[in-house]
Amino acid sequence: MEFSIKNTQPEKQRAACVVIGVFESRQLSASGQELDSASQGYLSKIMATGDMNGRVGSTLLLHHVPQLGNERVLLVGLGKADAFDSKAFLTSINAALSGLNSTGATSAALYLLDEVVAGRDIAWKIEQTVLAAYAQRFQPGKLKSKKDDAKESGKVLKKLILNVAPAYTKIATAALAQARAIAAGVELAKDLGNLPGNICTPTYLAEQAQSLAKEFPLKCEVLERKDMEKLGMGSLLAVAQGSRQPPKLIILRHNGGKKGAKPVVLVGKGITFDSGGISLKPGAEMDEMKYDMCGAASVLGTLRAAAELKLPLNIIGIIPASENLPDGMAVKPGDIVTSMSGQTIEILNTDAEGRLVLCDALTYAERFDPEVVIDIATLTGACVIALGHHASGLFSDNDELVSEIEQAGVAAHDRVWRMPLWDDYQPQLDSNFADIANIGGRAGGSITAACFLSRFTKKYNWAHLDIAGTAWKSGKDKGGTGRPVPLLTHFLSKRAAS
Ligand code: BES
Ligand code: MN
Ligand code: ZN
Repeated sequence: MEFSIKNTQPEKQRAACVVIGVFESRQLSASGQELDSASQGYLSKIMATGDMNGRVGSTLLLHHVPQLGNERVLLVGLGKADAFDSKAFLTSINAALSGLNSTGATSAALYLLDEVVAGRDIAWKIEQTVLAAYAQRFQPGKLKSKKDDAKESGKVLKKLILNVAPAYTKIATAALAQARAIAAGVELAKDLGNLPGNICTPTYLAEQAQSLAKEFPLKCEVLERKDMEKLGMGSLLAVAQGSRQPPKLIILRHNGGKKGAKPVVLVGKGITFDSGGISLKPGAEMDEMKYDMCGAASVLGTLRAAAELKLPLNIIGIIPASENLPDGMAVKPGDIVTSMSGQTIEILNTDAEGRLVLCDALTYAERFDPEVVIDIATLTGACVIALGHHASGLFSDNDELVSEIEQAGVAAHDRVWRMPLWDDYQPQLDSNFADIANIGGRAGGSITAACFLSRFTKKYNWAHLDIAGTAWKSGKDKGGTGRPVPLLTHFLSKRAAS
């Protein structure tokens, strides 16, 4: 889709559809009033019929409005003018875009961005609009043998004009570039997440990283099983030993910063299918464990965005990729392995495999002398129970880093919620036979998982994001969300600017 920032009076707009906001009740927005006078009161007459009262998210499509040069006007309800907040804005934008998609219009001009949204600037409005437009045209069924009719015939929205007051052209243009980069990163992460385990294997993830390094100035390196053996990654390899698919440790670098500047390191869990291993998961919804590489997907999506935006930072993505399957060779409950850090781990549950691959990747990260390390993982069902599907769990004992990530989440509308990481929880991981057990009981499951990781991150600033509840949606609209690519990209671009 093509986006442009313009400033044209609505009555002079030549796009196939002009999108106009209406507040409750029956209050035309400023551009609506301009159109109304140009059409000699036609819009007011429509309002008087009661067909559009401005309820948030409602739409009314008008054809051949008198005196206007375009075929359609789409009226979009914005709700009460004094309650036009982030949520109302997003509801109206989504209603406008889906209204547009059900017309045959291939171009449209949005006149919704002038309205003041409490606490949000024009950059936010542009970014959310572009992300919503990408999300609506996203096709999850790429593996279906038949394509969508409308898309075949070319009758889809191709051009979206964002009408913005001249004073804002400059920030709007920058916001558009950032939004496009985030949207492309989100799409990459969604596509990878949605791919089934038989296609998206550790090898496939490695190939995707390599092809990103061809398309963008990124550097990719892939470590094989024998390399990991040499490094002593006994924990990661224990997870991989139950699968016929070879594990990969993917390292993707964006060298946008000064030579020698300490990098931001992003570590993404890349379990391409999590059956639970010998501690087999129940059958219901087990297909969703193809999403257990969404942390990895978000790292790839974020590096893509960072490369496209040429962020002046050094960024390193590390992805420990493996399947978790039960096999004659698979790791068993009670097995004790030695991690790269030298700490021994008693694997009491083979389904707590995420932390086992992450701990070795986190130790590996030390060699880059990182400024900060953030790991991103669909780590625990317990996090979904705690926070549901709106906030990702954030764990860190660095208050400054926490507030930086929280703020990036708010700015990106991809929010996190801080969870405790107190030492009080650590004894739950005690083992009689090894340095640490890989599970800490049912109580505070997402916290003890984070506590496990914390044992491997003593040498740098670190935060952990548990995205088990936010990385994909279940049910009728099942699919990857691309989160937390927006959050991470905001985090990085803010760092790059300061
Ligand atoms: N990938 C799962 C976490 C998960 C479960 C994410 C459900 C989203 C939905 C992870 O590997 C796992 O199985 N965790 C276990 C840990 C337990 C054995 C301590 C869990 O959450 O049940
Ligand atoms: Mn598991
Ligand atoms: Zn898992």
